[in-house]
Amino acid sequence: MENVILAIESSCDETSAAVCIDGLIKSNVIATQAIHSKYGGVVPELASRAHQQAIAPVVMEALERAGVNKTDLTAVAFTQGPGLLGALLVGASFAKSLALGLNIPLLGVNHMKAHVLAHFIEHPRPKFPFLCLTVSGGHTQIVRVDDYLDMTVLGQTKDDAVGEAFDKCAKIMGIAYPGGPIIDRLAKEGNPDRFEFSKTDMPDLDYSFSGIKTSFLYFTQNQSQKDSNFVENNKHDLAASIQKHLIAMLMDKLTKAAKQEGINQIAIAGGVSANSGLRQTLIEAGETHGWEVFIPKFEYCTDNAAMIAMTAYYQAANMVFASLDSSPMPRMKF
Ligand code: KG4
Ligand code: ZN
Repeated sequence: MENVILAIESSCDETSAAVCIDGLIKSNVIATQAIHSKYGGVVPELASRAHQQAIAPVVMEALERAGVNKTDLTAVAFTQGPGLLGALLVGASFAKSLALGLNIPLLGVNHMKAHVLAHFIEHPRPKFPFLCLTVSGGHTQIVRVDDYLDMTVLGQTKDDAVGEAFDKCAKIMGIAYPGGPIIDRLAKEGNPDRFEFSKTDMPDLDYSFSGIKTSFLYFTQNQSQKDSNFVENNKHDLAASIQKHLIAMLMDKLTKAAKQEGINQIAIAGGVSANSGLRQTLIEAGETHGWEVFIPKFEYCTDNAAMIAMTAYYQAANMVFASLDSSPMPRMKF
C-alpha cells in the first residue's frame, strides 16, 4: 500500500513542507523568513506570524510539486520540538487540523533526530552504528546512531551552540543575522592563522562556546579602540581565524568520540554543516583516520521538512504516532 506522508517544519524561522511517498522524498518546499535579519536574531512573535502567513501556501505547493491531492495523504507529521513555542504551535495546529479533517494518523517528530535522519533522504547512506555531529543555531551534539529510532547523545554544548557562536561573532563584526554563512564566505579569502582566541576546555565529549565568543568580543573591542577601522580592514582574517578555531573545537571532540566508540562511519548534520571549512576539514580528517564521511546536500543541512518526513516515515513503520491532544515541546528531550 502506498504510504503518503505530508510533513511540516516550523520550529524556528523556516516554514517548510515536504511529501514522502514510500520512503522517497517527492517535494520539499522551504519559505525562509527574511524579517529577522534587521533585528540581529529571530524574533519569536514575528516568526509565529510569518509561519501563519506562509503555512497554507507552502503546504499546497509541496502537495502540488509531489503530484498528490490532500485526499491521497495517509499520515501527517509535524515538528513537535525543540524550538520556539509560538512557531511550533502553528505547525502543530495545522497538522492536527489536517489529520482530523482527513481522518489520518498524526506523527510528532523531534527536530534534532530529524537532522540526523536527513542522511537517509539520499544515497550514500551511513551504516549503523554511525556518529553524527549535529551542529545548528540551537544545538551542538555528538550522537551515536544505532538504528533509525535508536540514538544516544554522547556529548553536547553546555552553553551556546556553535551556530550561535558563528552568528554572535558575526554580529560583533557588524554582520546581519544569520552571520554564519557570511563568516564562511569571508573566511575563504582570509588568513586563518592570523589571530588567536582563548577557549574553554570541557571534559569528556561536551562543548562550550561562550568563552571563545567572549574572547573574540574583547579582542575586537580592544583593537577597535586603537583603530576604529580594525574590524572592517581585517574582516577576512577575523572570519577565517574564528572559523578555524570553532572547527578545531568541533573536530577535537568528534575525533575523540570516534576513537572511544570504535566507529568509522562519521556524519555531520544541521545548519552549520553547510560550512565549507567544516566540510573540507571533515573530508581531510576522514582520509587521516580512515573514516567514511557523510555530508548532506546543502538543502538538507539547514531546517527543512524533508528530514521531518523521513523521520516520520520510520516512525510510522514502527507505529510511533502522536495523539490529537499532543502539544509542542519547546525543550523536547532527545
Ligand atoms: O539547523 P539550522 O538551519 O536551524 C536551527 O535548527 O538552528 O541552523 C542555523 C544555523 C545558524 O546559526 C546559521 O548561521 C548556521 O546554521 N549556518 C552556518 C552556515 N550556514 C548556516 N554557519 C556557518 N557556515 C555556514 N555556511
Ligand atoms: Zn535545525
